[in-house]
Amino acid sequence: MGGKSAVGSQLDTFRETRRDIEASVLPLATSVDGRRFSFQASLHGLELQAGGYAVLDDGGTRRLGQVLSVELHQQLAGELTLPSAAGGPETRTELQIRAAQGEGIIVDGSSAPFHDALIRPATGSEVLEWQQRETGPHAQLILGELALAPGVPCLADAAGFNRHTFLCGQSGSGKTYSLGVILERLLTETDLRMVIFDPNSDFTRLSEVRADADPALAARFREAARGVAVYSAGAQGERRLRLHAVEVEPAAQAAALRLDPIADREEYAALAGLLAGQDPLTIEALTTSGLPEAARLGLRIKNLGVDRYSVWAPGESGSVLDALHDQSVRCVVIDLGSLPSREEQSLTAAAVLGDLWRRRQERDPVLIVIDEAHNVCPAEPQDALSAVATEHAIRIAAEGRKFGLYLLLSTQRPQKIPENVLSQADNLVLMRLNSLADAAFAQAVFSFVPPSLIERSATFRQGEALIAGKISPRQPALLRFGARISQEGGADVPVTWAAPR
Ligand SMILES: Nc1ncnc2c1ncn2[C@@H]1O[C@H](COP(=O)(O)OP(=O)(O)OP(=O)(O)O)[C@@H](O)[C@H]1O
Ligand SMILES: [Mg+2]
Repeated sequence: MGGKSAVGSQLDTFRETRRDIEASVLPLATSVDGRRFSFQASLHGLELQAGGYAVLDDGGTRRLGQVLSVELHQQLAGELTLPSAAGGPETRTELQIRAAQGEGIIVDGSSAPFHDALIRPATGSEVLEWQQRETGPHAQLILGELALAPGVPCLADAAGFNRHTFLCGQSGSGKTYSLGVILERLLTETDLRMVIFDPNSDFTRLSEVRADADPALAARFREAARGVAVYSAGAQGERRLRLHAVEVEPAAQAAALRLDPIADREEYAALAGLLAGQDPLTIEALTTSGLPEAARLGLRIKNLGVDRYSVWAPGESGSVLDALHDQSVRCVVIDLGSLPSREEQSLTAAAVLGDLWRRRQERDPVLIVIDEAHNVCPAEPQDALSAVATEHAIRIAAEGRKFGLYLLLSTQRPQKIPENVLSQADNLVLMRLNSLADAAFAQAVFSFVPPSLIERSATFRQGEALIAGKISPRQPALLRFGARISQEGGADVPVTWAAPR
């Protein structure tokens, strides 16, 4: 009994000594190049976090830094002699002490090397002061709050959207909601036109202001929202989502008819000839043309039901493609989710992307927003129509920028987007990503973002994100997206079935 308590008191001495030493680890930072720094700090009351901001004070010279990584570090401090208990022998033991160790980057202040500068978390006003000083000449979009500097807005540089942007996060992480925040802010603060591919009808109420929206923001947004035009299959008149067969490029028409240029060469040639002609393509024209291959083509159209697509608009004037180039329309929402079949959705996506590409010489800046991009332009298309949409996306990703065609793609699965589309993205908005494989993939593609920040995405809550690239010119930032101004369209399925009885 007595022996046990003697060991117990030795253990207490050991723990107290270790605690005192660990608590006395000074928060000190060193930089040999004046830009990157390493630091150590006590684990007791540790406030420095990856993605957060810190002030480094080197005897009067103050710098602002961003912490990029923080890790647990253990090192041998020496040998400790524990006092003898109850006449027993003294005990000598190794003392390992634990501390935080990390890396960071200087974002503001002198670029001279320094050694043993005191480091502490920056206050909100210190971050704000830097941010205001660094703000460039372009419109700044307030996307929300910096996650590790509460009260400080997270600003995105609007001009950075003249690059391709990739938004990624697992299902439910808040991609569509946050995409809405970005689009609302772009609508309000800039003149950039946009075309939104909306496979889940999430943006059909983009022009409707929420009752609980911030009044000042809502007033400004209302003005911009007048330029939003939603094209849905179920709408009447002008806003019915519709196409004319003659406007659809031959490649997409052939894909809709599952025509292979080699295996079905006669029908393919007949289609190409007919499409090049003046007359609109009708089944009657085909069957009465007297040409056997044209008659076969007519039969194919009938059998595949392509003539019965709800998206065709025989006898109606205009189509959704007109809106793409109508300068009075600020934002075209293409409600793909309203179309009755996957084929019609793919055909419409292919036709719209094809039209934007075909008219690229107009150099009319437009943000092409594709939610659920892994369905609209998949890396491995399951059918010929999706393959046409994917080809256009790849072409626009590679060459669109110089014509003013900028992509903003959102997906849950980065691997399901063609790699040559992803690799063209200069901006990243990363939300929660639980899959290690997805995070590793994002890390490989977005090598300009510190891996330690990408790793943090596993801990994000809904609405939290990492933003990096030209839209975040001051450094990658961790943010919490702000509240939507406009209504969300396709709401989650209600859980009224789980209401308490
Ligand atoms: N910042 C936020 N504030 C309040 N609600 C949010 C926020 N972000 C997301 N939500 C809500 O959480 C739900 C899921 O968000 P959202 O639909 O944006 O996820 P998602 O990442 O697009 O998912 P999926 O990949 O399945 O489409 C929605 O009901 C949305 O309203
Ligand atoms: Mg979504």
